[in-house]
Amino acid sequence: MAGSGPVGVGFIGTGMISNTYLENLTKFPDINVVILGDLNTELAKSQAEKHGVPQSGSAADVLDHPDVELIVNLTIPAVHAHVSNQAIASGKHVWSEKPISVDRASGQALLDQADAAGLLVGVAPDTVLGPGMQTARRAIAHGDIGEPLSAQTIMQYIGPDICHPSPEFLFAKGAGPLFDMGPYYLTALIQIFGSVETVAAVGSKGKATRTIQAGDRTGTVFDIEVPTHVSAIAKYVDGGVSQSVFSFDSPLTRMGVVEITGTEGTLVVPDPNRFTGDVKITRAPVMAAMGQDQEWESVPITGVYAERGLGVLDLARAARTGGKPLASGELGYHVLDTLVAIEDAITEGRTVPVESRVAPVPLVAEDYDPFALTL
Ligand SMILES: NC(=O)c1ccc[n+]([C@@H]2O[C@H](COP(=O)([O-])OP(=O)(O)OC[C@H]3O[C@@H](n4cnc5c(N)ncnc54)[C@H](O)[C@@H]3O)[C@@H](O)[C@H]2O)c1
Repeated sequence: MAGSGPVGVGFIGTGMISNTYLENLTKFPDINVVILGDLNTELAKSQAEKHGVPQSGSAADVLDHPDVELIVNLTIPAVHAHVSNQAIASGKHVWSEKPISVDRASGQALLDQADAAGLLVGVAPDTVLGPGMQTARRAIAHGDIGEPLSAQTIMQYIGPDICHPSPEFLFAKGAGPLFDMGPYYLTALIQIFGSVETVAAVGSKGKATRTIQAGDRTGTVFDIEVPTHVSAIAKYVDGGVSQSVFSFDSPLTRMGVVEITGTEGTLVVPDPNRFTGDVKITRAPVMAAMGQDQEWESVPITGVYAERGLGVLDLARAARTGGKPLASGELGYHVLDTLVAIEDAITEGRTVPVESRVAPVPLVAEDYDPFALTL
């Protein structure tokens, strides 16, 4: 990407999550948010006014804007690939909310199209670039738990129909607890264990319909298209196994459980949907097995704290300096490939191989400063 100074950014999709992105991206000196676009141009306008963005309009206005070098795609999963394709066809780099797409063919086509155009694709989650997950990964790299062997993750609650004003898409193809929340947990696991080799899974649907419980459309009943409870197991190419629960059917809320067990200890990783949290290790198996309290060591968190938008900044800096984003399209595609394999395993009742591979994801430099002006 030629030029110097802050990277011009445009948004397509200005719904619920756009607030968090806008609050943060407007604080990073290497980013200049120039325009917001949405199917609902009134919404784009009000979000622009709220966050001090100079222009707003339709998706086409963002795609055609000469100062936009990178598009942040915050639309719903069913149209992620289509909107990202349009961004690449307009000569812009693209950051997509997760998942990269809802099917393998369109996800791969997007990466091929970007490669051919010499443009970059970055995919959420960027939470894994935060100090919490990075501290946990550094502890593993230092050998603090020995050789990682296995992992357990749990994400269960009653579901987003209790709080999202337009929750239908979260229960449609391309979402559900697996596709909506799975990317956080699978991205964390893939960063630790590497590429997934095979998966097996079972799924169920607690109710055939749900009722919106927040916003103007409270009381609206809608159909559920996908399993709302998924139990999945995975085996990794370079060793390691994991078991995961993804559920929108549980009155018992248990979120962000990620435990990595190695030959020397178990590491508790912060919620992969957050940028930081406690990192702690236990290695007192005899005492705990005898009924005494588990002993924990805290791992001090290192790195500068920032929120959603960190991946957009990393992508923008990579685009300007000729690098590659850490939350890359390739990683996003491998996560999608794994999600679809889990879906296939549920439908077909068999172990399903995952064909794609992703290179190990480098760590974020400990002195990485999102608030510095570097471009
Ligand atoms: N809401 C959250 O807490 C949250 C958190 C993390 C990630 N996400 C992800 O962010 C994405 C958006 O979620 P949300 O909660 O903001 O959804 P939302 O429904 O509130 O907003 C989506 C917006 O995209 C617009 N849109 C849809 N198709 C479009 C198109 N073709 N062109 C232009 N605009 C279009 C809609 O008009 C809407 O305003 C999803 O992928 C979701 O998984 C959401």
